[in-house]
Amino acid sequence: MKRTLIVANWKMHLNTSQASLLLHRLHERIKIHRDIEIVLSPSMLVLQPLSLQIDRRKFRLAAQNAFHKDEGAYTGEVSFTMLQDLVHYVIVGHSDRRYKFGEGLDTVRDKVAAAVRNGIVPILCVGETKNERLQGETMQVLHDQVVSAVSNLTSREIHDIVIAYEPVWALSSGTDYLHHEIPKPGDIAKAVVAIRNDISELYGKKASESVRVLYGGSSSASTARGLMEVEGIDGLLVGGASLNYHEFSGIVDGAYRMRRAEEG
Ligand code: PGA
Repeated sequence: MKRTLIVANWKMHLNTSQASLLLHRLHERIKIHRDIEIVLSPSMLVLQPLSLQIDRRKFRLAAQNAFHKDEGAYTGEVSFTMLQDLVHYVIVGHSDRRYKFGEGLDTVRDKVAAAVRNGIVPILCVGETKNERLQGETMQVLHDQVVSAVSNLTSREIHDIVIAYEPVWALSSGTDYLHHEIPKPGDIAKAVVAIRNDISELYGKKASESVRVLYGGSSSASTARGLMEVEGIDGLLVGGASLNYHEFSGIVDGAYRMRRAEEG
């Protein structure tokens, strides 16, 4: 059975001491579970100090972004090569990057390939905007984003990647996650089927089953378990609620309870 993956995307929040404090509190609350993987994604600046403090049996680290060239004259950028020993995962194609920083399909594809080339697991975010949803374009958008992003991967490399379905319209501003509209379970399930079908057509059924698919968008302690129980969902990518340790540890508790219920 696949491990449940819960990723805390702290975005551009928390300086080093704030992040250390949150880590400390999470460490006290969160127990080790062999079927649950907890990943923290702080800002680039905080990765190094946090890597010295984390209990690796409990937490892994993810970068929120990196540049697809391994080295060179790229002022201001950090490469996947530089992150190799520091992180296990990297978030790629987040809608913040696509829509606020103009990253197109080709850039996302190059970043996915660079992550894999450097032994880092990409967490590829895909999802439709509100307008695309209203126009009935959701499936086409997911298809284009998934197919283009994985197009440089071999059939061996595809098994390791993680895909996060994050409808852009469902993402919180960071604080309003408790009151934000989120998709119906049936709509999430449909999106997951579409994502796995794309992988299946390109790489076969086995690959499509082994890829972990997460949901992201205004998840919280009260909605987490229901979201994780959606058919085909293997975990959550959490933004706003991951900055609050009650909320985030509540989300992790939801995963424990779910796995325990499955074990019977
Ligand atoms: P949210 O963010 O949980 O605050 O909606 C999720 C994300 O942007 O990854």
